Amino acid sequence: MNTQNRILQVESLTKVYGKGDNRTEALKGITFDVLEGEFLGIMGASGSGKTTLLNCIATMLKPTSGKIILHGQDISGFRGGALADYRGKEIGYLFQEFELLDNLTARENITLPLSLHGVTAQKAESNIRELASMLDIAGVLDKFPGQMSGGQKQRVAAARALISNPDIVLADEPTGALDSKNSKILMDKLSAINSEQQKTIMMVTHDANAASYCSRILFIQDGCIFHELRRNILSESITAFYDRIVAVMAQLGGGSANVL
Ligand SMILES: Nc1ncnc2c1ncn2[C@@H]1O[C@H](COP(=O)(O)OP(=O)(O)O)[C@@H](O)[C@H]1O
Ligand SMILES: [Mg+2]
Repeated sequence: MNTQNRILQVESLTKVYGKGDNRTEALKGITFDVLEGEFLGIMGASGSGKTTLLNCIATMLKPTSGKIILHGQDISGFRGGALADYRGKEIGYLFQEFELLDNLTARENITLPLSLHGVTAQKAESNIRELASMLDIAGVLDKFPGQMSGGQKQRVAAARALISNPDIVLADEPTGALDSKNSKILMDKLSAINSEQQKTIMMVTHDANAASYCSRILFIQDGCIFHELRRNILSESITAFYDRIVAVMAQLGGGSANVL
């Protein structure tokens, strides 16, 4: 499945917030690669720097030092049209709180990124239908967010993240606001999109269940990577990988509830 091409390189990334007494070193020199077709998980305690890392990659935050390289190009050099293209077409972002616009239907929310780039909804209709069928939201396309369940809203948000066919999907705690049944549905769908379409996904999560769908997990502590786990896709079940994830979480001390 993995073609082993590097899609994203993060090199010695640091991020410092504030000054003097308010200074926080959120990232202290993080280096890793993301391979094309990977489903990479980022785990770590609250405040360990996960969202900061994702937001630097999404160009929502400017790193203090270090490099983020997509397909060999340093993204800090992007300006104007190149930056808009990167944000709109090369990355898709899935948030914990869905971030759908309440006065737009599901279909309009999904096509919003396209309309910002001048692509008409009609042109995208076959893509919308394909995504809606994969994500099981065909029945809610003409509904407003207020008329949908949390699980449906998050799957609509997933369709919006995927509609521009981005090179990489960034997801920050996508199951964080879902119950366990809807978390499992979302993870099954994201996992299918990863394995069937070779879509590269980088997902931050607290949840060992969600993380067990990943092909590799980086554990972050205090702004540094301190551990890595890889799932042997051919021979290791999701349940066996889950057990290894929980073991790492327990090793950190205090058990999963306290630590991650
Ligand atoms: N805008 C900000 N201003 C100042 N400090 C921040 C800001 N955002 C995050 N931090 C701090 O940076 C550290 C990492 O935060 P964050 O990346 O949100 O962690 P996580 O997503 O792992 O919970 C925390 O100590 C947090 O308090
Ligand atoms: Mg966070």
